[in-house]
Amino acid sequence: MKVAIVCDSSTGRTRAAAEEMAQVARAAGHECTVRPVQDADPAEVGAADALCVGSWCKGLFFVRQHATPATMDFIDSLDELSGKPAAVFCTYKTAVGGMLSKMAARLESRGADVTGSFKSRGPYAAAGFKGWVESLGMRNPFATGVGGVLSADIAVPDHERELGFYAKVLTTGNAPLWRDDLTNNQGTPVIGLGARSPEYEALPLQWMPHFQVADVAHSAARALELGGKEIMHGKGDDGQSQWAVLVDHNGAAFGVIPVVPDESIAADESEHVGSIAWLTLTVTDVLSTRDFYQQVVGWSATPADVEGGYEMRRPDGVSSAEICHARSDKEGIPPVWILSLPVNDFEESLRRVREGGGEVVKESTDRTYAVIRDPVGVCLALQAKK
Ligand SMILES: Cc1cc2nc3c(=O)[nH]c(=O)nc-3n(C[C@H](O)[C@H](O)[C@H](O)COP(=O)(O)O)c2cc1C
Repeated sequence: MKVAIVCDSSTGRTRAAAEEMAQVARAAGHECTVRPVQDADPAEVGAADALCVGSWCKGLFFVRQHATPATMDFIDSLDELSGKPAAVFCTYKTAVGGMLSKMAARLESRGADVTGSFKSRGPYAAAGFKGWVESLGMRNPFATGVGGVLSADIAVPDHERELGFYAKVLTTGNAPLWRDDLTNNQGTPVIGLGARSPEYEALPLQWMPHFQVADVAHSAARALELGGKEIMHGKGDDGQSQWAVLVDHNGAAFGVIPVVPDESIAADESEHVGSIAWLTLTVTDVLSTRDFYQQVVGWSATPADVEGGYEMRRPDGVSSAEICHARSDKEGIPPVWILSLPVNDFEESLRRVREGGGEVVKESTDRTYAVIRDPVGVCLALQAKK
């Protein structure tokens, strides 16, 4: 990604901190520029994928701290930032008061999504900056918290055959990421493949990811207001909403559940286990769909690399999902949530898809991702383990 750092520095400490931050950003694989606010071109900074604005702390050392007027003027000169990830930073000596939150509010008034705030007492990058810059452009739905996706389920006809198909397709390679019973290789149930009994008759035949939301009842109500439908709504004895199955205006179904307590999915571990690696939804009306999920799930949206699409981001800045535009190259992909499940031996998994009565609908040219259809016609994607 392109990261633009802009700062105001009087004696050089903030500038030196910015240069060190740029090194950190480059080490994380980004392109990064550093400009003083006095010379920075607002159009160039606004065109970056992420921006970081810094000022030295000016005040009476213990009170009335603020960013420099030149810094605030620069923020005001920026065009609409449309949910772009941003951070604020300062260097200081004693205390910064409310200066960083005021800078953040000003950037947010330009449409930025401020996900980082850093202060350092010297001419160096604050410790938290590395984590912020590493999370930029990251994709990983598998997380606890609002907008994180840990599980998905479906109720299928021909249940025995389906179980056999998924068990074969997912357990390839010398270090399979999944077990025969469809838990991941740590024994965690991620995908639930149930039989289509009469009580599930109303559920559409598609994989339904479970999105964690701050307030299930609120999400369900917003979905209805925005043209969606509610298929099921689970409530406790006290009448409190516990979960709901909703359908958006494209017909894509999903569940909403409360935030799952953080039993800490170890980051290093999650790369070697079966999980939901990515989610895509291909629709003709991207903008209304983007707005629907922003309001119902609580994601923010940022333009994706793919033309016309959006990545849907959690509050920590990591993307959980993508909403893509239905074009000719997406032919055959229905407007349902397509889960990507990682497999250890991608080619062998595709072979087993065909052998087991499924179909490969689309395959990426680099042969690391394919949308498939299972024997009862349900679409999902397989992805080569990175
Ligand atoms: C006029 C003036 C006011 C300052 N006010 C504060 C303050 O209120 N709080 C604080 O922590 N540091 C304060 N500082 C210290 C600077 O913020 C700090 O030295 C900063 O790192 C300087 O950055 P620069 O080298 O990029 O100009 C002040 C410095 C000056 C010259």
